[in-house]
Parts: sequence; C-alpha cells; structure tokens
Amino acid sequence: MSKHVYIKTFGCQMNERDSEIMEQLLSQAGYISVAEQQDADLVIFNTCSIRAKAEQKVFSLLGLLRKQKEKQPGLRVAVAGCVAQQEGKQIFKRMPHVDIVVGTQQIYQLPDMLLRLDRDETRREISCDLEKSFTIPPFQKLLTADKGQPPSPAAPEFRKFVTIMQGCNNFCSYCVVPATRGREISRPVTDILEEVALLVNKGVKEITLLGQNVNSYGCTNTVADQQAGFADLLQMVARVPGVERLRFTSSNPQDLSTELMQCFAELDNLCPHFHLPVQSGSNAVLKRMHRKYTRELYLEKVDALRSFCPEIAISTDMIVGFPGETDQDFEETMDLLEIVRFHGSFSFKYSDRPNTRSADFGDKVDEQVKGERLQRFQKRQDQISLERNKEFLGKTVEVMIENNKDDSIQSRTGTNHIVHFAGPNNLVPGDVAMVTITHAGKHSLNGNFIA
Ligand code: 5AD
Ligand code: SF4
Repeated sequence: MSKHVYIKTFGCQMNERDSEIMEQLLSQAGYISVAEQQDADLVIFNTCSIRAKAEQKVFSLLGLLRKQKEKQPGLRVAVAGCVAQQEGKQIFKRMPHVDIVVGTQQIYQLPDMLLRLDRDETRREISCDLEKSFTIPPFQKLLTADKGQPPSPAAPEFRKFVTIMQGCNNFCSYCVVPATRGREISRPVTDILEEVALLVNKGVKEITLLGQNVNSYGCTNTVADQQAGFADLLQMVARVPGVERLRFTSSNPQDLSTELMQCFAELDNLCPHFHLPVQSGSNAVLKRMHRKYTRELYLEKVDALRSFCPEIAISTDMIVGFPGETDQDFEETMDLLEIVRFHGSFSFKYSDRPNTRSADFGDKVDEQVKGERLQRFQKRQDQISLERNKEFLGKTVEVMIENNKDDSIQSRTGTNHIVHFAGPNNLVPGDVAMVTITHAGKHSLNGNFIA
C-alpha cells in the first residue's frame, strides 16, 4: 500500500524548490502527496530560521503534531531546512515526537533514512552535514527522477525555479544563512541550460533563476569548468528557445555589474523587475551589518539600472531597529525610501539569531521603538506603492495569466505587479494577454481585457 506524504514549506523560494525536490524523490520511493496534514503517514516541515518569529512558528506547529502522533502512532515526522540545520539533534530533545532531522544539503538522503526507519520503528535518523559540493543533482539524475510517479499537480505548471547556486559568503552580521546553507557554490552552466530546456519542453513559460546571491554566480567555488559570470548566464538562459519570461532572485548591490544592467536593455524576455535588498539607509548601520556597499553606491546602482531600463520596478528588503540604530539612522532609511520610491518592499524588525555576530552587539533597540519604526516605514511604503501603481492607470500592459476561476483572472506584469481582470475562460495559466489598467490599489491593479 502506498504511503502518503504532506510537506509544509516555510520561508524562501530556496525552500520551495527543496520541497519540490523532496516531493519528487519521495514519489519515486512510492509516496503520494496529499493536501491535508491529517491524511499523511509522513509529515515533513521544511523550515526557516531567518527571524526569531519564523522559527517560533515552526516549533509551535511542530508541537501540535504531537497530538496527531498520539492518535496515529505510525505517523512519521521529519524536520528539514534551516531550523534542522541550525538545531540538529537538539530538535529530538525539544520535540521527542520527531523521527527525522535532515539538513539543508542532505535532502537526497531522505528516502534511505525512511527505509532505515521502516526496518526499525524505534530508530531516529539525523543527517546535517554541510557538504562542500553542489548538491542539486546534475541533469541526468533529474531526468530519471522525472520518470517516477509525478506528484499530481492540480494544473500544469507554467513557471519554475531553477537553482543556479547555493550558500552564501557574505556573512552579513545579522544573518543565519551562511550557517544554515553553507559556503557559496555555483552550479555548472551546462546543467542549468539543460534543466531550463527540459522545463520549457514540458510547457514551462517562465523561469526564475534562484540563489542566495545570484549576481555573484561563477565568482567563487564554481564547480563548472567555464568562466561564466551571472550576466553571461542570463544571456544564455534568455536564448533558450521557449523561455518567455526570465526572472532571478536574490541579489546584492555590490555585485550588480554594468553587464547585468545591460541585460535589461538587451534581453526582451528578461522581466523589468529587480529585487535589490538594501537593509538600511544609514552608512553607519550598513557598516555594522557588514553590508559591502554604502548608501551612495546603492543610489548610484539604482540610477544606473533606471538609465538602462526606465520602466524597471525596484523592490527591496529593509531591517529596522538593528543594534545601535539611532533616530537619525532611521531617518536616513526613511530618506532613502523617499529618494528611491521602491515599488514595494519587505520590511522587518531586527531579531537576534544564533551564531550571528550582531546577536552579541550591545545597544539593542527597544522592542517598542522597533515596532514604531516598522509601522512608520510600512505606512509610507504603502503610500508610495499606491502612487507607483497609479502610474499604470490608462496604460495597456502585457500580463501572464496565473489562474482563471469563472472568468475572474489573476495575472502578473513583467514588473511583478498583480493584475485582476475579467476575461475569456479559455485563457489558462501561462498564457499572455493585453490588459488596460483601470484601477490601482496598494497591492494590486485591475484592468480591462483587450486581447
Ligand atoms: N532580523 C530581521 N530581519 C532579517 N533578515 C535577515 N536576517 C534578519 C534578522 N536577523 C531579513 C533581511 C533579508 C530578508 C530575507 O530577511 O531583510 O533580506
Ligand atoms: Fe529562511 Fe534563509 Fe533558510 Fe530561506 S535560506 S529558509 S529565508 S533561513
């Protein structure tokens, strides 16, 4: 009898991609994916530890699984991802109902770990080494994996992530990622191109190149034998026949080269959206964050990007209340927001993370002050997003359909804006349409279908 697996993904796209890989590996091992946790024989939490809150959420939901396991003794519980990597065997102590802890670079061992558990019910399995090689299997392995039972998708997928690098060498003082994902390593160009071609052949229209720091692709620990940088890679991927839309995430300002900016002017299928985390508008804070750029350099990069591609939408990540952040530092963050006028941003209150340097910094900012700063930042960002969105009014834009329920369509522009419109029911995800924008809200646009 086949077993049922439920995977819950927390955190970033990196984790989403890892969950997909786990699903594929498990489907080869005879597991069927289910949509409800209570229908599963195996529950996997693919976890995130980027902020204290993310980690707390993992542990509280994990705690609830204890009850399910009491009712269903054969249930297997696995913890994967960044919390697994960070906490290792401590998880067994804190959560005795967990059977498997599997680190960020060990997901390929999951089927074997499960087999060992099947042979010995009382066993626990843990594997958390950070490997020094690229752990996404090459193309051949992916192909074989594909012959397994596909994890019954509701609709054919029109967009996919392709991992191009793993890990991070930047060591920002607040960040767990170097500890949870290891050192930076780039995947060979040929593997990437083959995977993209394979996906396009299966009907995928939009590719997002994925990595913690994609624009330093090829700079460090390239397992490839060629010397391609990120701009070269983008050019090559953009030219794979059938790639209608190309995106990438995430980037660091100091590695944003002129060659990369030029790609936005040259490549028609490269979407005019750039997520460029800035984290703070104050040079003093940026320095303590160990970010490798200044406010001035960041603003120069933004200007240059806009000169290559005037319609480009720029979004960012911002942290408020970093240790030692003064009122004046925060005003500089607000001022940077006024200058750049980001199309959108993700903003967070600073939180201490294990094994990071800033956790030991003195001068922690009061929780209430952090809260006030965050609120002020987000309120102003919302106003700016709305003003930015209003710039679309009356314009006709090309959108790609994401879903179509009873002629009520959700779609996305190249600039990454969500557009709702009423349209024909033969439009399916991945199709493109022209829409004239008639209404602008804070978080999305509405329009009329043209063609
Ligand atoms: N506290 C608050 N926010 C953080 N981020 C990363 N680490 C922390 C932390 N310790 C934010 C950064 C990053 C995003 C993914 O999460 O803004 O870009
Ligand atoms: Fe969370 Fe960072 Fe790990 Fe992604 S890499 S899951 S954002 S901690």
